[in-house]
Amino acid sequence: MKIAVLAGDGIGPEIVAEALKVLALFKSEGLDIETTAADVGGIAVDHHGDPLPEATLKLCQMSDAILFGSIGGPQYDTLPRELRPERGLLRLRKELDLFANLRPARVFPQLSGASTLKPEVVAGLDIMIVRELTGDIYFGHPRGIAVNAAGLRVGTNTMVYDEEEIRRVAHWGFQAARARRRELCSVDKMNVLEATQLWRDVVVEVSAEYPDVKLTHMLVDNAAMQLVRNPKQFDVIVTGNLFGDILSDEASMLTGSIGMLPSASLNAAGLGLFEPIHGSAPDIAGRGIANPLAQILSLAMMFQYSLRRADLAQRVERAVEGVLEQGLRTADIATKGETVSSTSEMGDAVVAALRA
Ligand code: IPM
Ligand code: MG
Repeated sequence: MKIAVLAGDGIGPEIVAEALKVLALFKSEGLDIETTAADVGGIAVDHHGDPLPEATLKLCQMSDAILFGSIGGPQYDTLPRELRPERGLLRLRKELDLFANLRPARVFPQLSGASTLKPEVVAGLDIMIVRELTGDIYFGHPRGIAVNAAGLRVGTNTMVYDEEEIRRVAHWGFQAARARRRELCSVDKMNVLEATQLWRDVVVEVSAEYPDVKLTHMLVDNAAMQLVRNPKQFDVIVTGNLFGDILSDEASMLTGSIGMLPSASLNAAGLGLFEPIHGSAPDIAGRGIANPLAQILSLAMMFQYSLRRADLAQRVERAVEGVLEQGLRTADIATKGETVSSTSEMGDAVVAALRA
């Protein structure tokens, strides 16, 4: 099994290093895995003048899975858009057709006090957000900033979905629901936006193939509100690229920290990119205090979805629960009075728990 490792910028390299400790342990146990590192994002701009160099794209195309850290930093925010780190990630998602983005938000029992919401609101929470990842306003044309006839600058982006793009991710939503509590909530803004009226129509059509899954619909503004009012009403949420981006950040805080949420981005062939949902956190980069658990849990998702080793995925998840049970906390999930562990202490503890 070939794995491309794209650590990226900011805290990316620090947390990827911890995930690689876990991989190294499995390798030492005989897992046949080959990892190759490559540049992406800002570091790739620095080294090659391109946030997604051809060699990195080739490596990803030839791999069974991609372990991705995070990209971006304030020093790149003034570059032309084509050279920004974010564009590297978006192009990678698009080139590999990674349209199905799974973002599970699960509250570990040990962390139900770490959320800013009341423990009784979040305890036991287990939701899955299925976000469409290669369409919508992220990629729609026309786009850009131009000057109109009146001499005013006009910014344009286009929310656009064709029915096939909606259909294929809707199937992922229904199938995820089928493997869980069989409830799917499709989130749109059909009261205002035609693109999402089509979204709703197509999801309803697809639902005919899943009579065993209970389908509901919710407008995105209400969904944002319901996520903090009563998040446990949700099982699986399926939604478009933009709404999914926003709702998954919101959902992450239910779990205590954005530093806890992994994700899987998959194409129809099963190739996947696995990354934390958080960014490169330049404010804390280089200080050894970032939480590596979202990255380690992303590795678990890689075992589950791309490498078909659910057994290893489960071992990693149990080890993470184990270290939380032991009381290990990085700064983001520590509550008052708790001892704070560093990034590498947390990673080492997970490896030790896997060994035990
Ligand atoms: C995410 C991130 C990305 C996105 C950025 C870094 C381009 O916020 O994966 O949620 O908007 O999709
Ligand atoms: Mg985001």
